Amino acid sequence: MKLWGGRFSKDPDQMVLEFDECIEIGNRMYEQDILGSIAHATMLGAQGILSEEDTNAIVNGLNGILEDARNGKVTWSVDAEDIHMNVETLLIERIGEAGKRLHTGRSRNDQVALDNHMIVMDACREILALLKDLNEALLSTAEAHLNTAMPGYTHLQHAQPITLAHHLMAYVEMFLHDMRHFEFTCEQADEMPLGSGALAGTTYSLDRERVASLLGFSRITMNSLDGVSNRDYFIDFLSAASLTMMHLSRFCEELILWCSSEFAFIEMDDAFATGSSIMPQKKNPDVAELIRGKTGRVYGALIGLLTAMKGLPLSYNKDMQEDKELFYDASDTLQHCLAVFTAMFRKITYRKERMAEAAMDGFTNATDCADYLVKKGIAFRDAHRISGELVAYCISKGKILSDLSLDEYRSFNPIFDADIYDAISLETCIGKRNIPGAPAPEAVHSSIENAKKRLSMFSF
Ligand code: ARG
Repeated sequence: MKLWGGRFSKDPDQMVLEFDECIEIGNRMYEQDILGSIAHATMLGAQGILSEEDTNAIVNGLNGILEDARNGKVTWSVDAEDIHMNVETLLIERIGEAGKRLHTGRSRNDQVALDNHMIVMDACREILALLKDLNEALLSTAEAHLNTAMPGYTHLQHAQPITLAHHLMAYVEMFLHDMRHFEFTCEQADEMPLGSGALAGTTYSLDRERVASLLGFSRITMNSLDGVSNRDYFIDFLSAASLTMMHLSRFCEELILWCSSEFAFIEMDDAFATGSSIMPQKKNPDVAELIRGKTGRVYGALIGLLTAMKGLPLSYNKDMQEDKELFYDASDTLQHCLAVFTAMFRKITYRKERMAEAAMDGFTNATDCADYLVKKGIAFRDAHRISGELVAYCISKGKILSDLSLDEYRSFNPIFDADIYDAISLETCIGKRNIPGAPAPEAVHSSIENAKKRLSMFSF
């Protein structure tokens, strides 16, 4: 008979059983579930709600189950529906009567909420560590490429020259945003819902603060309905995960472009690429493509849970059981992607000459030519036009700006002097952009130091 079978005349139909159960995904949180139960029982004992003998039997029994589960010695059963009733059933099997007292003053609704809060906090910490690794890899590569010139793009057209370090530091900033989102998500999940009961608290004098402190929570939830029906922390998690995947996906898209023969900026390590079954010459950036592709399923989880929640009346509804599958799928996907991406990134070879060549290609110094004229007293709008006319002239002659003679320059405006060549050199275009956040090596060096400091301030 079911743990809740008292008022029923028969067991659920097999189809219902299979439809309703969630043990396959729920078994992933046996650790949190059992630790939560140990804290609950300990508190019940301290409050005199359970006898010392029963409390000890329960705590020892639960520790035994935990140990066996960690060693893969427990088989969870679909019949017991979910992880909560699996653990409770097993406890009763093992210790008898005392086991039947564990669920005093508790509902599966606040129990699952507790487990959920704990799994989200655990996952946030794991992801923060992975993001930190990735940022460290990016920072050390950036440090090594402060002077590696490359084109900066807008509209995927050559725009202005930058450095590889500067480009990579943009991603460091994005992944720092992500770390703050996961830190926030962890704070959102950091409230202890046990004691909310099914929805309306309980008549037992539970010491909720005690349970919170036993489990390492910094506060308790303050409304029993919210305690069992809140899934915002999952949505915060999925939203943070979606943003991180979006950042990874954009990065992957660039790496895919950069290793094409059109760009040829980088070479992927052979261990992080794959071949073709028909075309012998192929070396494909599968890892980057797959990460880009998996972004869709993480967005899917976010939209899935937002949609599942949108019409639910307070408080607990079974719809919410969908939360865990979406959460675990997104969390696994993100963690896997972060680990593989970081490993792949560490092995990339950069073709510095090719990048520098491209940095000068496409008139990336045309803005600097206009700025040169402005510094000589010409209004920016006129300077912009003159520089544009020079570009058009170069295109018609198959030249670049630095190829033009001083006479050619002067035929567009007599103010041009021999110092124009220095003003539009690659070194000047990059090196003189030396304000905070700009690509000059000195400025990027400061950004790196600043990012390292911010990275070291995360504790998880
Ligand atoms: N398996 C359920 C879930 O994941 C636990 C809570 C069930 N509560 C209930 N009254 N059926 O949401």
